[in-house]
Amino acid sequence: MVDILDKAMRSHDLDKYEIVRLLSIDDVAQQELLFKAADKTRQQYLGTDVHLRGLIEFSNYCMNDCMYCGIRRGNRTLERYRIEPDEVIKVAAQAYRLGYRTIVLQSGEDSYYTGDVMCHIIRGIKEVADVAITLSIGERSYDDYRRMKEAGADRYLMRFETSNRGLYKKLHPRMDFDNRIQCLRDIKSLGYELGSGFLVGLPGQTVEDIADDILLLEELGADMVGIGPFIPHPDTPLRNCNSGCLDMVLKAVAVLRLVMPDINIPATTAVGTSDPFGRQKALKAGANVIMPNVTPLEYRQLYQLYPGKICIGENPQDCRICVEGLIRSVGRTVGTGYGGHNG
Ligand code: SAM
Ligand code: FES
Repeated sequence: MVDILDKAMRSHDLDKYEIVRLLSIDDVAQQELLFKAADKTRQQYLGTDVHLRGLIEFSNYCMNDCMYCGIRRGNRTLERYRIEPDEVIKVAAQAYRLGYRTIVLQSGEDSYYTGDVMCHIIRGIKEVADVAITLSIGERSYDDYRRMKEAGADRYLMRFETSNRGLYKKLHPRMDFDNRIQCLRDIKSLGYELGSGFLVGLPGQTVEDIADDILLLEELGADMVGIGPFIPHPDTPLRNCNSGCLDMVLKAVAVLRLVMPDINIPATTAVGTSDPFGRQKALKAGANVIMPNVTPLEYRQLYQLYPGKICIGENPQDCRICVEGLIRSVGRTVGTGYGGHNG
């Protein structure tokens, strides 16, 4: 194991077998060695800054039916909301005043926000706030991606969820793995910084699948990667499945840091939900980004992708103060710039 870690720190190049070996470490002391190696690599390439992204969840309407997701179309019990475009611009301006230099606009796949509407929101935000804009609104046409980039969007976040085609098909009715990957390639080719990622602990997922997920992220040239544990939602078909294991998420974050040493890796909200110190642990295992929620309070409890989601009751200002405290508690500093992959 130590030989693989040495190689990873020297070359940042591991094959599938070596990745599986690292992900399979059970021994606590050996896991600690893996996390330390990732932490050292993060320090060497990116320093102590943790970048903050203000997350605006602007619509919980979704035309998809992902089997694990609390806002899936099939969840008829959920009250749906949309924040009107000009209101989204105002929320982004408030986040800018709170100090955020990146805004993430996330929603279900909601055709109410056409390419034109998204361009209006993006231009409106750029007029009032000096921020980088990340979109996380799912699969769109090439033309939409192009126009939104021209309107000023900087980054795009869309997880492929799992690289195992068979599993992808089972979990995503009427969706097509190849189309999702093509979208990610289009996004990258248009000059966006590309964010992607996957879920850990999906029913039927193996360690080999997770190794393939990491290799696919390398192949796609991802600039940022979110990895989260699957958390079963009571109003979805997967309600009785087990949650993903936090240790496996942390090992995946650490291995990813070793093979993609300078990318942005968030300590995800799902990690913070599965363990009260989950985000701190992720920051010590290679992560360098946190995405505090800046969605107006009245909507937050309606954007429950999974139960128990943290920060449902905190106002945006409190969330920022809390996250800054969290960052300092692990000896790190709060980033002040845009925090992109390329500066
Ligand atoms: N609609 C956009 C998309 O498809 O990329 C963005 C929103 S989507 C709800 C955001 C992410 O939530 C998904 O990529 C998925 O990984 C995560 N998610 C959904 N349900 C989850 C669950 N039960 N546990 C953990 N993460 C979940
Ligand atoms: Fe939101 Fe702590 S991160 S209140």
